[in-house]
Amino acid sequence: MTFQDDTQLELTDFSVETDVFRREVVAGLRGDQKTLPSKYLYDKRGSELFDAICEAKDYYPTRTEIGIMEENAEEMAEAIGPGTVVIEYGSGSSMKTPLLLEPLEAPSSYVPVDISREHLVEAAERISERFQDLPILPVCADFTRPFDLPEAMDSNAPRTAYFPGSTIGNFTPEQAQELLKNMYDETNGGRVLLGVDLKKDVAVLERAYDDSEGVTAAFNVNLLEHINRELDADFDLGAFEHRAVFNEAHSRIEMHLVSTMRQVVTIGGETFSFDKGETIHTENSHKYSPERFAELAGPAGWDVEQIWTDDKDYFSIQLLVAKK
Ligand code: AVI
Repeated sequence: MTFQDDTQLELTDFSVETDVFRREVVAGLRGDQKTLPSKYLYDKRGSELFDAICEAKDYYPTRTEIGIMEENAEEMAEAIGPGTVVIEYGSGSSMKTPLLLEPLEAPSSYVPVDISREHLVEAAERISERFQDLPILPVCADFTRPFDLPEAMDSNAPRTAYFPGSTIGNFTPEQAQELLKNMYDETNGGRVLLGVDLKKDVAVLERAYDDSEGVTAAFNVNLLEHINRELDADFDLGAFEHRAVFNEAHSRIEMHLVSTMRQVVTIGGETFSFDKGETIHTENSHKYSPERFAELAGPAGWDVEQIWTDDKDYFSIQLLVAKK
């Protein structure tokens, strides 16, 4: 569905229905290891908390990625070429977008895609003020599934998927590969510019996901508040604690919510029991070596054309091009 908001931005809206949200939450909490889909961390408050995480001193990915962008954006823009549509997956507050749009030669349009509608519209408005001649075509959708691109987009222009922030790491390798395949289709076999967080010292990783300011803990617990509000649930927010651990076998940071007592939670009339110490697994953040990431991208149709990193090799920005 497409409509104009008061600011004349045309929004294509495929936001997730409450029914789907409920089904996914219930299915996750019925498993032996309870889980919740990490995409529901991002309601309005969650998106604000995530922005605060990005500013936290212990969370290195954002500032490292911005540093790499600032140093290499011209080279990236040149490698991408002129006249491209930029489709940003999980655009959130579109914080890093100007770093790419600024040096690009005559981009055709900017298509931010995000599940959080309010955040999406606010960010799209900000970008449209800054890039006044650029068509901004926001799409409110769950980008983890194939979605339709806006009708107003120039269908003949080359397409670049922009996926900063290392969000690719929040998917299992199988899901990440599926997403890279979708990007192949959605860009018509164009290009992807994406952030990939690299393997590093475990202490650095665990601190980044359990920061000393407690912002990540608040972000994790807010998921329960989101469920309480939207799904008529009664999670006691004080009875769950944030935990972040590195799982070496899967090369990923795992976020959990630990039940601090034996308790029963009700969600829309259904009950779920928790033992003391039992956890809900709420997010994975996979850390890759460049070799492992190339192995993942290959079968999805992509060659890694170029990689930019920082001094410490903490983070990478990679340009993928469709295999010939
Ligand atoms: C969005 N994503 C890349 C973040 C990450 O680093 O995996 C989400 C996050 N979770 C806790 N802190 C940040």
